[in-house]
Amino acid sequence: MPEPPTLADQMPRSLGMALLTILGVGPGDPDLITMAGLKALRQARTVAYPVAQPGGEGMAARIAAPWLQLEQRHLPLHFPMTTAPEPCRQAWRRAAQRLAQAVAESPPVVLLCEGDVSLYASASYVVLQLQRMAIPQLKMRLIPGVTAMAAAAAATHWPLALQTQQLLIAPAPETPTALDVLLAKAEVLAVHKVGQRWAWLREALEQRGLLRQALVAERVGWPDQRLIPAAELPPGACSYFSLVLVRQAWPPVLPWDRDDAGATG
Ligand SMILES: C[S@@+](CC[C@H](N)C(=O)[O-])C[C@H]1O[C@@H](n2cnc3c(N)ncnc32)[C@H](O)[C@@H]1O
Repeated sequence: MPEPPTLADQMPRSLGMALLTILGVGPGDPDLITMAGLKALRQARTVAYPVAQPGGEGMAARIAAPWLQLEQRHLPLHFPMTTAPEPCRQAWRRAAQRLAQAVAESPPVVLLCEGDVSLYASASYVVLQLQRMAIPQLKMRLIPGVTAMAAAAAATHWPLALQTQQLLIAPAPETPTALDVLLAKAEVLAVHKVGQRWAWLREALEQRGLLRQALVAERVGWPDQRLIPAAELPPGACSYFSLVLVRQAWPPVLPWDRDDAGATG
């Protein structure tokens, strides 16, 4: 089993202009791209982006579309929708090689990434692979993006964590028992990759008295976004691009006095 990279391996070695920028474009609204991201995009000669199928469009590319320029070279990178290790590794290696080649041929290169670059992102594997390849002339920079979770919290005016509260970010568990394990660890859960699992997750939240303290954010930032109190979303599948925010408790100190029923509404 290969050793994971050490912290020292991972740290950037040089400053100066990045030849490869891994850019978080946010969850959907093109206006949520940062100023740093926009600058990097404007300077890029090659724009790479993940696609789930060869010839497909890709979410990150759609988000960044208003900021792309006609003369930029497009480099779709195919990441298959599978968890099988070998096809994933092949895709990550191939993507890293193609990016390294693009850096040699038409720099600077930007790799677009939906949301943030460090949260459940294919780009993270490409970064790890490029670090392993240790190409001396490849100066790489990562620009963070707004996560879907942060955008969902802002869109619904839903504070993610307050005071000493713990926030747990997790993919949707596979079973009610696995949900209980998550619930035991944190006051607030941000459940990602919901999709088909909403069918049973809704029932499990209801049984635990948490349905009314949860909300579903589907396709945040897209024209068809839905922000729904979880109790109002019927059982069934929801989009893969959905997350569920669950609050188990509020902290002790709030702007209103807990005993003041009138003030709390
Ligand atoms: C592969 S992860 C990518 C996360 C992304 N890198 C981020 O920073 O938010 C995909 C999961 O993120 C969540 N997600 C991504 N974009 C979303 C959006 N626009 N609306 C709601 N959830 C989204 C969903 O839970 C989805 O299953």
